[in-house]
Amino acid sequence: MKKITIAIDGFSSCGKSTMAKSLAKEIGYIYIDSGAMYRAVTLYCIENGLIEDGEIRTEILKEDLKRINISFKINAETGQPDTYLNAENVENKIRTMLVSSMVSQVSALDFVRSAMVEQQQKMGKEKGIVMDGRDIGTTVFPDAELKIFVTASAEVRAQRRFDELKSKGQEASYDEILHNVKQRDYLDQNREVSPLRQASDAILLDNSTLTIEEQKAWLINQFNRVVNP
Ligand code: DC
Repeated sequence: MKKITIAIDGFSSCGKSTMAKSLAKEIGYIYIDSGAMYRAVTLYCIENGLIEDGEIRTEILKEDLKRINISFKINAETGQPDTYLNAENVENKIRTMLVSSMVSQVSALDFVRSAMVEQQQKMGKEKGIVMDGRDIGTTVFPDAELKIFVTASAEVRAQRRFDELKSKGQEASYDEILHNVKQRDYLDQNREVSPLRQASDAILLDNSTLTIEEQKAWLINQFNRVVNP
């Protein structure tokens, strides 16, 4: 069967990765979490003192970016890809509130975006890939055969992120998360380079009231519709 490219974009914390991961597993495609790549660059900035009083030291980051290697390796226990930053497994470190609070600023930098987009396009060269993010259907793979744009209310998304952090034993405040979700929506939609937009040929999915199973079934349907028209 011919392989296609699947782009899943949308707002933060609306379950894009859950649906992208389970679809990729079901159909035997590679799954790439593009947000994890921006999170890894943000973690690098935090750990290397490149953010001072909320300001990013862009000149140093531009230089350092040549030495920042981001990759994914399947975790034998979870069966899911973990994110590596220069050979260190940073899967947990990139999901903290500290990284979440800075990632929109880092991912708004044009030189960071072009470096990540180049890597993402290389990863998807052979097709057979499900990638989720904000600009996958618009910028990274404008020719993707299946594009989904996911949304859900800010309150539903904040609750999901709150539950996720709690389940990992991390400290979390619902109000702080809701504030972060709304702030990132604004920054992601209003940045100059590749702002979050629904591609004109993307299918809209509001999953506020869908269960994970319902969402999965909906997505498999969309996939079958494209590969077996
Ligand atoms: O999907 P996520 O919440 O883990 O993404 C983290 C941040 O990365 C998000 O606030 C915006 C940015 N991002 C982006 O600008 N472009 C992408 N393709 C993916 C994520």
